[in-house]
Amino acid sequence: EKDGHDWFMRKEIFEQPRAVADSLLGRRNAAGRLQLDEVRLSDEELRDIDKVIVIACGTSFYAGMVAKYAIEHWCRIPVEVELASEFRYRDPILTRETLVVAISQSGETADTLQAIRHARTQRSKVLAICNSNGSTIPRESDAVIYTHAGPEIGVASTKGFLTQLVACYLLGLYLAQVKGTRYNDEIAQVVDQLEQMPAHIETVLGQADQVYALAREFVGTPSVLFLGRHAGYPVALEGALKLKELAYIHAEGFAAGELKHGPIALVDDGLPIWCVVPPRGRDQLHEKMVSGIQEVRARGARTICLAEEGDTAIEPYADELIRLPKVPVLLQPLVAAVPLQLFACELATLMGHDVDMPRNLAKSVTVE
Ligand code: M6R
Repeated sequence: EKDGHDWFMRKEIFEQPRAVADSLLGRRNAAGRLQLDEVRLSDEELRDIDKVIVIACGTSFYAGMVAKYAIEHWCRIPVEVELASEFRYRDPILTRETLVVAISQSGETADTLQAIRHARTQRSKVLAICNSNGSTIPRESDAVIYTHAGPEIGVASTKGFLTQLVACYLLGLYLAQVKGTRYNDEIAQVVDQLEQMPAHIETVLGQADQVYALAREFVGTPSVLFLGRHAGYPVALEGALKLKELAYIHAEGFAAGELKHGPIALVDDGLPIWCVVPPRGRDQLHEKMVSGIQEVRARGARTICLAEEGDTAIEPYADELIRLPKVPVLLQPLVAAVPLQLFACELATLMGHDVDMPRNLAKSVTVE
């Protein structure tokens, strides 16, 4: 049942190329246009949407953060991302033109469920992104995009996360298609790039041994930091959550630009810092990240960099370097999250923890 793996989590990490491919299957019609059959909202209703609020918890919340970058870029409408447990208690501004997107792997998370119930009382449209057919959240939503990860047994979400990202991208591209904010050719090009992601994820998984060797080196470390920018920022947060959940060690993710506003004071000799380096592009993201890495390294940190193939600028500042395939920045979370999952899984295993059932946690949190 674990396909020869020691943990369900590890099996699920290695299933990700398949899970991502399945989640992309059948999303285009014969004319090459996106079609999301389960989104039972008319084009007219979707065109009227003037704001998106994504609500979720934990790892699903981080997928929502990536959705914000993607949907705002492609659709030019404001996207808020909110923890489900906070949403109801702050009197959010909800109208008929608000699309509330609830992301939940299990479809049973009580905080998220209560949040959508509240949104519906305000007449907002609710779209669920969910991995469990017929679960409560999609049943109580106006529309749903199912991810096709297959059952996720490990308490730590892995393939659930990657397939949620896929669903968020599809939603963003679909909205752009309906609203006409992007040319069809451009949308088709991104879908083509998405279709190449399973092969890219496979390439990253091929480097598992390098990540495991790192995990061996860091057994006993009291703390690990994670840095990212743009879509790499939620990946940093996700990397830190995985490590907390599984290895029970202090881990924090930061937006790299925030370092100088406080967290850099934490940096000390030998502190391991994972750095999600954005692809080189026309913006300043990459350069800014490199200079942030330089700063922490000058203060004694051990930098473990995830950087795209061919990025030589990072080499002088990377104590360890794991290569990622060349992909656009918005899609990079699909490859960058994988080494962080492998690292947490391996480190926790080496520490003798039960990776599939970490202490104090449940797979789906059905109490508020
Ligand atoms: O089933 P959901 O996606 O609604 O679950 C949300 C969180 O409870 C979940 O992502 C949790 O943070 C995981 N244990 C993360 O690995």
